[in-house]
Amino acid sequence: MARNRLWARLNGAVEALDEPPATPLFAVDLDAFDANAADLVRRAGGTPIRVASKSLRVPALLRRALAHDGFHGILAYSLREALWLHDQGVSDDIVVAYPCVDRAALASLIGSPSAAAAITLMVDDTAHLELIDSLRASKAVPVRVALDVDAGLRMGSQHIGPKRSPLHDSHDVLRLARAVVARNGFRLVGLMSYEGQVAGVPDDVPGQRAKSLVVRRLKAASMSQLKARRLGITQKVADVAELEFVNAGGSGSVEATVADPAVTEVAAGSGLLVPTLFDHYQAFVPRPAAFYGVPVVRRPGPQLVTVAGGGYTASGAVGADRAPTPWAPPGLHLTSLEGAGEVQTPLTGHPASLLQVGDLVWFRHAKSGELFEHGNVVHLLAGDAFIDVVPTYRGAGQAFG
Ligand SMILES: Cc1ncc(COP(=O)(O)O)c(C=O)c1O
Repeated sequence: MARNRLWARLNGAVEALDEPPATPLFAVDLDAFDANAADLVRRAGGTPIRVASKSLRVPALLRRALAHDGFHGILAYSLREALWLHDQGVSDDIVVAYPCVDRAALASLIGSPSAAAAITLMVDDTAHLELIDSLRASKAVPVRVALDVDAGLRMGSQHIGPKRSPLHDSHDVLRLARAVVARNGFRLVGLMSYEGQVAGVPDDVPGQRAKSLVVRRLKAASMSQLKARRLGITQKVADVAELEFVNAGGSGSVEATVADPAVTEVAAGSGLLVPTLFDHYQAFVPRPAAFYGVPVVRRPGPQLVTVAGGGYTASGAVGADRAPTPWAPPGLHLTSLEGAGEVQTPLTGHPASLLQVGDLVWFRHAKSGELFEHGNVVHLLAGDAFIDVVPTYRGAGQAFG
């Protein structure tokens, strides 16, 4: 069984370390990571993949993803992050996927012709342009911008999808496109439209057949509505600006997104590490690649062990699916009264009786990059051994929110 094998690999790798490691111990299985990268490339069918950095937050893993043929450029989540990644030489093609109102970071961008040539800002409102203009005396350094186009499904008065950009119709998008082009000091280089209601919703959940069917139907309706709208918008904007890219999608929607001829690149990040929220998609087989190990510290009863900490709950609408999952050895469960705790996490299940004080229990996080906000370094597993230890953003002294 894969989870028992993983347990043996991780524990063997820990035992072989020269010194006992600090816990919690964060680990990435590079064999799984590389297989996931290859599978994303297969699913993208020749469309380049822009790696979503929020879902990794480890520079060495970003570099590793970018080293795979088929990956190109970074979709960053903050301008400060983009400036830092550019400075570190991780990429010279970085699109910040969310609007930035951080004046200090914007001033740094405007002050650096090389950063301004490598980084693209996302805008969906003239207020974003005005803020940039208010920070500069000269417009000698052009600022690259892309427009975020809402990719939600509209059904009557309902909007299904992430509540982000107000730009939905081609009329709204074209008006802002023209405003960008008319302003000195800006270059409109791209469009982005993230169909989170397709990419981020599991559609093959065990025990939820009927719900999964409804989700798949909504996804199909969403993609067909979006395809028509996105093509019209792209054609109209291409008449006023020379677009370098039309970005869309995410790990959960790769093949559906690249089937849209308007799309020139697809974003993906979570599909490299496959946290638990990505376990149940029809389109791909999950290969979990990110884990954290916490030690058993006590035994409250014969069928119970308590591990130190481990309570790394994911962001998003609060629910059981945001909790971490004890993964190896298989068969352990959180208790309903305590869940995953701040400093102590009781676990039940048959392996509990076999675990000794000091043994590691390996967990998976519900989301992808957030896990690495909790640790400074990640041990990289290849085969049965840790072959490297690399800093997370946090370990490099960086926190981007
Ligand atoms: C703008 C944007 N693109 C793409 C993604 C997909 O990222 P991932 O592949 O990590 O799910 C996200 C995730 O939230 C996003 O916000």
